[in-house]
Order: sequence, then C-alpha cells, then structure tokens
Amino acid sequence: MSTATLPDLISHAQTTEEQFLRQIFVRDQMAEWSKAPFIMARADGVHYWDVHGKRYLDALSGIYVVSVGHNNRRVIDAIHRQLDTLHFSPPMHGTNPVAVQLANLLAELAPGDLSAVKFQCGGSEVTEAAIKLARQYHKLTGNPGKYKIIGRYLSWHGSTMASLSASGLKGRKTVNEPLAPGFLHVFPPTCYRCPFGKRYGDCGITCATLVGDVIDMEDPATVAAVIVEPIGHTGGIIDPPEEYLPLLREICDRHNVLLIFDEIITGIGRTGRMFAAETFGVTPDVLCVGKGLSGGYVPLSAMICRRSIADAFWGPIAQNPGFVEGHTFEGNPLSCAAGLAVLQEILERDLCGNARVQGERLRAGFERLADKYDVIGDIRGKGLFQGIEFVRNRTTRERFPADEAIGVRIGRRALQHGLLTRFDPHWLAMGPPLVSTAEHIDEMVDLLDRSIEETLAG
Ligand SMILES: Cc1ncc(COP(=O)(O)O)c(C=O)c1O
Repeated sequence: MSTATLPDLISHAQTTEEQFLRQIFVRDQMAEWSKAPFIMARADGVHYWDVHGKRYLDALSGIYVVSVGHNNRRVIDAIHRQLDTLHFSPPMHGTNPVAVQLANLLAELAPGDLSAVKFQCGGSEVTEAAIKLARQYHKLTGNPGKYKIIGRYLSWHGSTMASLSASGLKGRKTVNEPLAPGFLHVFPPTCYRCPFGKRYGDCGITCATLVGDVIDMEDPATVAAVIVEPIGHTGGIIDPPEEYLPLLREICDRHNVLLIFDEIITGIGRTGRMFAAETFGVTPDVLCVGKGLSGGYVPLSAMICRRSIADAFWGPIAQNPGFVEGHTFEGNPLSCAAGLAVLQEILERDLCGNARVQGERLRAGFERLADKYDVIGDIRGKGLFQGIEFVRNRTTRERFPADEAIGVRIGRRALQHGLLTRFDPHWLAMGPPLVSTAEHIDEMVDLLDRSIEETLAG
C-alpha cells in the first residue's frame, strides 16, 4: 500500500502509461487495447474529444445511449435540480415523486396496455427482471410449470446470469458456461442468410412458425416466455420481415407464453417511433428499455408490462408477495429526473420524427456506398439504427474469411479518421444521436466512404 496522500495519488494517475492502464479492466482485450488506449475526456453535441484532444464524430451515441446528444443543458439542469432536492430515496420502503412521474409518462407513451413500470439501472438488470416477472406471473396465475425461456441465437440481452443465458452469442457465453438451466434458443430471422436455406417471399416465415413448433415440442405447459430484440444487434442488425413479429405475437397468445421485447437499443426513438413495437405494429407483454432512456447522463433502465400482468401482482399479501425483484439503485431520483428530461426533449423537439428523416438520409448514404463498393452485400435496420454487411462476392453472398476481419479494419480506419461506429468482422453499424442533423449524417457517410476506400486499397 502506498504511503502517498490521496491528492498525490490522484495527481499521479495517468491515462496513457501501461502501468496505470493495467489497473482497470476494460471490455476489450486489454493487452491489445493498451497499445492504443481509447480514452474519452469530454463531449459536446455529437462529438467526443479524447485525452489527447482528438475529436470524434459520434455515429454510435456512445453505444446507442446518447439519445439527446452530449452536454444537453435540459438534462444536466434537471439532474442538478434533483441533486439539490433529493438524490436517493429508500428503495425498500417505497419510491419518490420523479420515479412516479416517469412511470406515468412511460405508461402514457407505451403502446396498448403496457402500463406498469419497474426501474433498474442497466439493460441486463431489466431483461433479467422481465424473465423473473414471466416466471412469477405464471406461478401466480395457476401455471407453476411454465418456466422455460426461449431466446434466439446471435442475440444479446445482457451479462447477468439469466440475461446471458437467454442470449445467443457463443463468444460471450462459452467462457461462462454452465449457464442457468431452462433456456432454449431458436434461429433469428437472418433473411440475407436464411438458416433454413429459403428465400423471403417463398419461405412461409419458417423462422417464426418454428417458434410455435418448439413450444409444442417442449410442451406449452412448461414455456414461460419468448424474448427477442425487435431488431437484433449483435448478429449484424437483424431486421425481421414484416410478418415475423406479428406471427410471434399470435404464437405466444395461442400458448399463453409471454412475449418480451428487449428494446434496450431499439427503444426511445431509435427506429423513428418511441418504441420499435410501434414501428412494427406489435405490442409485447413486457417491453424493456435502457440506454437512450437517460441519454447516458446517469444509469437508468425500465421494464414496462401490461396491466393484466401487473394486476396478478396486486393481490392481498397472504397470497401474493409482490414482484420479488429489486436492486438498491432502482428508481433512483437522479436517474428518473434525467429520464423525464430526456423524454421531454424527445417529445418537444420531435426527435422521433428527426430519426425517421435522418434515418432515410443515412440509408440513402449507405446505398450510395453500396453502388460504389461491391463489398457491401446488404443494408439493414430502421431509423437511426442501421448497418451494412460486408461480403467478398455479392452474387454468392460469400463472406470474407473471419481472420481478414474486413469490418474491423474499416471500423478501425474510421476511428483513425475520427468516426465512432460499431464494427465486427463481417458488419459495421451506426446509431447516431437522435439530434443529428443532415450535415452530421453526410459527414458520417463521407468518413465511412474514405475509410472503406483506404481499407480496400490497403
Ligand atoms: C439489446 C440489448 N439488451 C441488453 C443489453 C444489456 O444492457 P447493459 O449493458 O446496460 O446491461 C444490451 C447491451 O448492449 C443490449 O444491446
């Protein structure tokens, strides 16, 4: 233990030398990351500046979080005011006024009878909560045998044990196995690479109907819920055909299975409506939002369930213990004040409308790039959540070998040019802040253009 005083320790802390970088775990492979550490120092609007003063255009909203832009005065002032009033309320004994106000606003905005809200801090916590809600709901309503959760391959619902078990990304799962029991997986609607070898238009939407077959085979009396991201992210922006989610809705209704939408990314305006449930015209039984809900100013997420489900938790204490789920920081007043300010900002400035308009501009930009570069095989997504898949051969849809990591090379080149995107060996995605202007979108596309050109030339 150092004998240095605290001010000494702080002033000695460095952000660039390896000995100091070894004292923090980051999400990336650390030895690799520390060769060119990416450390942001400040941000404003749609830009970041790193510790060296380099500017980045944020085409990713941090990670689909910074919905109303960086340094948004309305949100910052709301948090300041809340800090001066009440910064924490006792979660075991009740809640606080801003949490009630935010719950009411979400209930008003959410489609159908989605109207009972449970707040948490992060996406993993609310998808975990949704899974527990489904199981406890079936116990309370006379179906204690319904416990299985059906998720999808390539999905990501979070890193806590149940949310991870529902996820379908082997790279993140295998290392943590064995995972929680009671989770099954089906193939997602990757039309561009149909897992059943079919073509859209003549496929009978097998990816959806098979979910019904799996429920049948497992025995509906054992299945509690199906959980899906309306547009999958980690598999490379998996945008379903229009029939897919309505079919899942019908199948779940037929078997008394709850349909959970993980809208941690797609919620709060990103697809051009407040919720992707509205974009697709399908109301789930439980809807999870996070990321953009607080704009990243403070941690906040929410699970919103239908009135009929919430009612099952409303009975007298002798029969009903309430929803057995909770975290210390749930419904934190600072988080809820930020959430209210973010939603006010989105509604007053019609940022959902802006996401639709700028989303069309982004799509047109990607299409121009596809005209120019044969390596762009497919463009997917909606609103300000879109991505491109790279292929070696557009006709056969053959991929580049994974070790060529074309998407990663293009994404890293973009970073060199000061453009922040999400990239993977085979795809690259953008999720700009909802406040982005036409000029910002054009600059994002131009920087990507340059990055693709240089990568292919190299
Ligand atoms: C679709 C989706 N669900 C859940 C999560 C987990 O959220 P968090 O990282 O806030 O726990 C993420 C995180 O990226 C996500 O993209």
